[in-house]
Amino acid sequence: MAKQSPIRFGAIGPGGAGTCRIRELAAHPLGVQVVAAVDPQPDRLDNLEKCIGYGFTRYTGQQDFKKMIDECELDAVGIFTPHSLHLEHVEYAIAKGMNVLIEKPMVYGSANAMRVCRAMEASGKVGIVHYQRHYEAQYIMARELIRKGVIGDVKTFFVYMAQDWSGRGWRGEPEFSCGGQLNDSGSHYQDILLWMTDLLPVSVEGNADQYHKGVHKDVEINGSFNVELSNGASGRILIMGDIPGGFIDDVRIVGTKGELMMSTMHGRRLLHRNEKGEVNDVPLNCPKGWPNSPCDNFVKLIRSKVRTNRVPFIFGVRVATLTDAMLRSARSGGKKVECADLLAEAGASMSDLT
Ligand SMILES: NC(=O)c1ccc[n+]([C@@H]2O[C@H](COP(=O)([O-])OP(=O)(O)OC[C@H]3O[C@@H](n4cnc5c(N)ncnc54)[C@H](O)[C@@H]3O)[C@@H](O)[C@H]2O)c1
Repeated sequence: MAKQSPIRFGAIGPGGAGTCRIRELAAHPLGVQVVAAVDPQPDRLDNLEKCIGYGFTRYTGQQDFKKMIDECELDAVGIFTPHSLHLEHVEYAIAKGMNVLIEKPMVYGSANAMRVCRAMEASGKVGIVHYQRHYEAQYIMARELIRKGVIGDVKTFFVYMAQDWSGRGWRGEPEFSCGGQLNDSGSHYQDILLWMTDLLPVSVEGNADQYHKGVHKDVEINGSFNVELSNGASGRILIMGDIPGGFIDDVRIVGTKGELMMSTMHGRRLLHRNEKGEVNDVPLNCPKGWPNSPCDNFVKLIRSKVRTNRVPFIFGVRVATLTDAMLRSARSGGKKVECADLLAEAGASMSDLT
């Protein structure tokens, strides 16, 4: 049988995260050829060439992503640029019929996210958001147990992540960052809560500050929020950027019949507290055929080797809505923000999040 020609891939913004993703794509056994890349910093393109071991067509203008897409007969693009730039990049790529792998957070703002998601779905192409926790065993298994009713109905939750996050470079500039740490690493934890519980965000009330090691920054660094979900469960999301040194998290989902616990303090484990209060390790046996990563899922979907997209754009919309609500509540001095009101601005309602 004739060998299939490789997927023709173009990269937009191959910086830190992008280079890592592109390396994985370029080594995929189903065949991805990096045909072109665009980045205003030529050293990023040099580095990418070194990492993948071959050359590609280069573009360096701020708007050259359009030229790249128009000129290079691409099948797919990867969007790895600073947060606020995702929007124009993804809208153009979808309009030109590309399969799209996009870094988190998909785009800022509930209304933008809804528009992009609808366009992606209408295009019939593959669109996947790079939330890698959908491919990590402890979260996959927690989701499976919640779906099977092992902890009963979800009643409350505690979702905490802390990182030494000073907002370096574009991350510290409001124009690019779109919400500091709440929208950066915090995005993963909003996502994982919604994904594991399969619930939607309903309302948010909380506060944030902009301090890192006593220095006031231009973007949100730390925030604490009470979040209500669509089954009536309420709990806390705590996103911190002001911890010296490392990275820790602690995620607990509490139901009527037990609790699930995942934390960097336990290693890559999933602990289950049953109704008797006994705590046991859950074996981390992922369902057969689950892709290894967003990149793996992306390539296999394009090649029709798997049918399920584990992070379709609707997850980007759910998270954008929750992040939007968190930021608006914090910026209004802690007022309660209803997600339905944010969606209404996009001419949408809660049912559009399902
Ligand atoms: N999933 C994860 O765990 C994870 C981890 C890190 C970063 N990210 C995400 O990846 C994205 C990039 O983050 P990063 O840390 O790699 O940043 P980075 O600064 O290292 O890379 C961004 C790149 O985009 C380029 N760029 C800027 N404007 C451009 C334009 N108009 N056209 C093309 N390229 C342009 C920059 O020159 C830079 O090389 C962000 O969305 C971030 O949230 C995700």
